[in-house]
Amino acid sequence: MTRTARVASTTAPAHGRREHWSGRLAFILAATGSAVGLGNIWKFPYITGVNGGGWFVLIYLICVLAVALPIMVAEILIGRSAQRSPVMAFRKLAGARSPWQGVGWLGVTAAFVILSYYSVVAGWTLHYSWLALSQGFAGLHPAEVEALFGQVYQDPGINLFWHGLFMLLTVTIVAAGVHSGVERWSRILMPLLFLMILALVLRAAGTDGFWPALEFVFGAHGDRLTPAGVLEALGHSFFTLSLGMGAMLTYGSYLRTRDDVVATSLAVGGLDTLISLMACMMIFPIIFVAGLAPGAGPGLVFVSLPIAFGQLPGGALWAAVFFVLLAVAALTSAISLLEVAVSHFLDWRGWSRRRAAIGIGAVIFVLGIPAALSGGTRLFGGDFAAATAVLFGAGHGKNWFDLADYLASNWMLPLGGLGIAVFVAWRMGGQAREQAFMAGSRFARLYWGWVWLLRYIVPLGVLAVFLHALGVF
Ligand code: TRP
Repeated sequence: MTRTARVASTTAPAHGRREHWSGRLAFILAATGSAVGLGNIWKFPYITGVNGGGWFVLIYLICVLAVALPIMVAEILIGRSAQRSPVMAFRKLAGARSPWQGVGWLGVTAAFVILSYYSVVAGWTLHYSWLALSQGFAGLHPAEVEALFGQVYQDPGINLFWHGLFMLLTVTIVAAGVHSGVERWSRILMPLLFLMILALVLRAAGTDGFWPALEFVFGAHGDRLTPAGVLEALGHSFFTLSLGMGAMLTYGSYLRTRDDVVATSLAVGGLDTLISLMACMMIFPIIFVAGLAPGAGPGLVFVSLPIAFGQLPGGALWAAVFFVLLAVAALTSAISLLEVAVSHFLDWRGWSRRRAAIGIGAVIFVLGIPAALSGGTRLFGGDFAAATAVLFGAGHGKNWFDLADYLASNWMLPLGGLGIAVFVAWRMGGQAREQAFMAGSRFARLYWGWVWLLRYIVPLGVLAVFLHALGVF
């Protein structure tokens, strides 16, 4: 009897069999949907701009290969082996009373925390989409574009409305199930996302800014790179691949043992990176043509880009495509965040999926209210750059929004990633680990390299991120 069959027959919860993806492609689309989000389209281009492109991009690619991908393989393997959501997976693999389940609890908590503010930000992308479609940004002076954003976000009602609508969309999709909800919508939204990016890159390739942008992103220069920039690349490789809080673990738990985890991880990591680089190649050419600075910081996408679009022929339409793209990317990421919490209550309490999705969605909506209100009142007093800086940058504990992001990005995710790596590399028995890695894999040769990276390089990397968060460097 295979491992999965034995698991299913002896320990499947009474309320039914675990759902599975219909195949490898479904998993790749859903996991890529989780990975590709605001991190790729908003944050990566702006940190690339601030760090001067060139070597920063190369270092980022090394971080993805050496630190993030090994963790992704480990996380998905835990889920696939246990066929459980994070907490129950650690209980199953480490023992019912083992402290390792703390890594799972940390992940479930992080899902609530992250989604509560991610949804507020995602709400803005919906609102921008609507603004771009209804009135466009063309013909506005740069100062007017900036003021427009400031004025929009001073309104708590607008923030709450879009946050609520976005949570409603997320809940509706997750409530429909792994197969008819998450998978089905990933199959629709991911190709749509890819087409929109492709169209925007092609549009940018037709401008005079394309070659300077290529040179900026891929050229051999590192004059603006600092040690802090290196750590930023490392931290980002983690966030962008949705690692460290059980999202990949949960999606992995819907895989069958015969599905190749290494090949799928490489596909997800590759697609995520491709989309980040494409995001640069759709944004920088337009920024250069408009004569704006690539190192504008967090406001690059929200202020510089609408200004730049405003100067292109047909810019209103392109701006609309861009913001719909952002909203779609955020939606598929939010789905994965909600799925972690829903899956947890299914496995742990035996709740029905519908009840879990609606109940948890409502709680997260309420948790997001302070973020929506602080977004409206304090953060957006016209100072848009400062407001967006708190989204994923180091927060300073000024309000719920800052605090939630700061805790999640700088502490919970790295800690969770460290726990996952240490568990698989040091705690899980060698035989179980090797068996899990080899099952269904065409990449048996990578086994020892992967173990070595997980044992030494990953913990060192995560430690560096912690020391950075503590202000040591
Ligand atoms: N990866 C997403 C992005 O780049 C964000 C995200 C979704 C995430 N799910 C996650 C980050 C889980 C960490 C953990 O925007």
